Amino acid sequence: MVLSTLSLRPFFAIAAPLADFLDLIAIIVYMIRFFSANRIIHPPDKPSRDAPKGWAQPFAPYGCFNKRTKRMEEYATLSYQGKTYRLPLIVGTENECAIDILKLRNESGLITYDPGFANSGACKSSITYMDGERGILRYRGIPVEELAEKSTFKETSYLLINGRLPTEEELRNFSIMLNDHSLVHEDMKTFYQNFPRASHPMGILSAMVNALRSFYPELQTGEEEINFTVTRLLAKVRTMAAMSYKISRGHTVAYPRPDLAYCENFLNMMFHTPVKPYEFVKEVVRALEVFWILHADHEQNCSTTAVRVVGSGRVNLYAAISAGMAALWGPLHGGANQAVVEMLSDIYISGGDYRKAVERAKDKNDPFRLMGFGHRVYKTYDPRAKIMKKMCDDLLSALDLKDPLLDIAKELEEVAIKDAYFVDHNLYPNVDFYSGIVLRAIGIPTNMFTVMFAIGRLPGWIAQWKESMDDPQWRISRPRQIYTGPNETHYVPMDQR
Ligand code: CMC
Repeated sequence: MVLSTLSLRPFFAIAAPLADFLDLIAIIVYMIRFFSANRIIHPPDKPSRDAPKGWAQPFAPYGCFNKRTKRMEEYATLSYQGKTYRLPLIVGTENECAIDILKLRNESGLITYDPGFANSGACKSSITYMDGERGILRYRGIPVEELAEKSTFKETSYLLINGRLPTEEELRNFSIMLNDHSLVHEDMKTFYQNFPRASHPMGILSAMVNALRSFYPELQTGEEEINFTVTRLLAKVRTMAAMSYKISRGHTVAYPRPDLAYCENFLNMMFHTPVKPYEFVKEVVRALEVFWILHADHEQNCSTTAVRVVGSGRVNLYAAISAGMAALWGPLHGGANQAVVEMLSDIYISGGDYRKAVERAKDKNDPFRLMGFGHRVYKTYDPRAKIMKKMCDDLLSALDLKDPLLDIAKELEEVAIKDAYFVDHNLYPNVDFYSGIVLRAIGIPTNMFTVMFAIGRLPGWIAQWKESMDDPQWRISRPRQIYTGPNETHYVPMDQR
């Protein structure tokens, strides 16, 4: 039902104001039948021996997605050029359903076409569950709201990577390992000094993570070595990120301290100077914990897919994570947190007219988009954004701060979520809409925002990479294409062109 409703939304938008409730139901039923029946390209003259009853409406996705009606098909069928193909269904633990097309090309010669992979599952995963229609996000089954309230980033990282919450002893050992590996090879410092001053920290971090392979070549064959590499990465990325900030400011590097926990250590490395020790504020430390917990994984998003795709060629972990960082940098993905604050600042500087931004975002002739709005999966309020929004208020009031960008953000949201365009397109604030305001309150400079996202996403990338390495069905990522270039043509010598 979910699938069908989504694909029919444009029709609903036209029909809803005109039809009464019963008419609308009738239209839905008619359209579902119409689309299901027409999914078959050429109905065969007669069904093959294997064809299930009712093959003419083979995919029945509404049945798969509706738990209450339990209209689950055992397999889907596809008819093409007089033949019917049985396609097995895969059902996840939350009853989400997929058509397994593993044998489709071999048997039928067909491939599927799905730009942006919006309808394609590339793996089975037991790490994160998202329900975009209901605004649900769970790591290893635990709602993100519970983790944000009760857990720490370190514990959440352990949960994601190892599949369960740690015991007290396991968490203590994990902390010791993170501490032991937190220093960065001194020679790496010279790299930082040779980047141009205006370099973006995301480019620097991604390059430095890739370079780790040269400094720590002993890698990931056995379980123990993988654990070392994973912990090393978690520990060092935090140090490298803070180091890049310090060096960009021309400040002395602050080294990690064994007496400080993960988040405190990062804040200290960022803001401590020899003449002004960093003073911890518990609300700031907690805000950072929660910020990182909320970013820790988000199933098969763009950067995680980059990690899995690059990792599928069996490169080392550092290279795969570096690829994820490069993907995260983009303004449609993790770079949106920086883009949101830049957008809000522009609105503020030009007089605070947030309504103009909403109007521009709706104008199809204007490439401008409302940054921090919309999501491929969430068709309702992003659960992370809810927590982030509340955290803005709590943190600013604890610090007795006033940020004019928060007022603009709230007013903008108020107007946008009631606007017909945003309602029709299911566009709500995503995690990036309020996260920049939290980071500003912590004191993080704007060009470091996406680096903060990257540190948070690291355990998720690692967990996804590990899972892919252990997957018996894993193959190198290598999609097909529909070729649209010229048919065979011949080389023309230069003097005849
Ligand atoms: N402002 C205005 N219109 C929008 C926006 C927006 N922020 N987002 C989507 N739309 C419209 C888009 O123009 C299209 O309209 P139409 O169907 O009339 O042509 C429709 O909504 C669907 O958009 P899409 O680009 O096909 O949707 P998508 O699923 O491919 O893209 C997105 C998702 C997040 C890239 C997109 O919503 C966007 O660009 N948002 C702004 C950037 C942003 O905030 N990114 C952070 C995402 S959350 C953090 C993360 O995990 O990466």
